[in-house]
Amino acid sequence: MATAFPTGERGSVSGVGIGLRDPHFDQLMTEDHGVPWLELLADNFLARGGLTPRQLDRVAQRYPVTLHCVSMNLGGVDPLDKAYLREIRRIAAQANAAWISDHACFTAHGGQQYHDLLPLPYSDESIRHIAGRIADVQDYLGQRIAIENVSAYLRVDAPLNEAAFLAAVCDEADCTLLLDVNNLYVNQVNLGLDARQALAELPLDRVREIHLAGYEDKGDYLIDAHNSRVSDPVWVLFAELIQAMLHAPVLIEWDKDIPPLATLLAEAERARAIIRQVKEAAA
Ligand SMILES: [Fe+2]
Repeated sequence: MATAFPTGERGSVSGVGIGLRDPHFDQLMTEDHGVPWLELLADNFLARGGLTPRQLDRVAQRYPVTLHCVSMNLGGVDPLDKAYLREIRRIAAQANAAWISDHACFTAHGGQQYHDLLPLPYSDESIRHIAGRIADVQDYLGQRIAIENVSAYLRVDAPLNEAAFLAAVCDEADCTLLLDVNNLYVNQVNLGLDARQALAELPLDRVREIHLAGYEDKGDYLIDAHNSRVSDPVWVLFAELIQAMLHAPVLIEWDKDIPPLATLLAEAERARAIIRQVKEAAA
């Protein structure tokens, strides 16, 4: 039975934020671009040559933040890495992070880090496995975490679809969902999964944050590369999704071939414009 954590947040974030990337650090710390919040990549603060504790303090003094992780290995079978989790807990406390997130996947096996987000077979066994580990992580961190849906490149026969799997995991672990719309679309193109149907079946009441990112088009398939603008089909899905959650925090992700900050700000403004349009249409 998962521990019941209070629903109150530590910090809070709202509106359309962007992921903090090194090339934009000085600009974001010295200029006001109307960015309401930043998502920090926890692993950037842990890597040699990454951001320093002093930089973390500067960010936290200026912006509400969330903390995004890639190495909890929630779906893996290796023991949970307590040293990593201890660092995550420390960074989250130092930055007063509103919440912590990682992915519904595995990233390591036999002590080897793959640096990839590898999906699980969507079965009852996987649900019990990852939900138990998420509950353990939440107990260790003393708070709920958000788990993100990942992109996949190989279709594996499984008894459940992704939406049913994530719904069951969220229920069993009592965690929240970080819904990446681009990942849903990548899976639609690569695997023939219906992104719109997934949105209809996902537990939207569990969504704590929405991710928007760009993919790399390889012709026959898409790679979730986070190296380009959000695609038009993803904007369409986003506009449909936010009809059900007008106030969900939204995040523009860009991880490779980092463009000038102005490009990320333009993407964030496009998301705000869509939210405004949906609000006006609903009024
Ligand atoms: Fe994402």
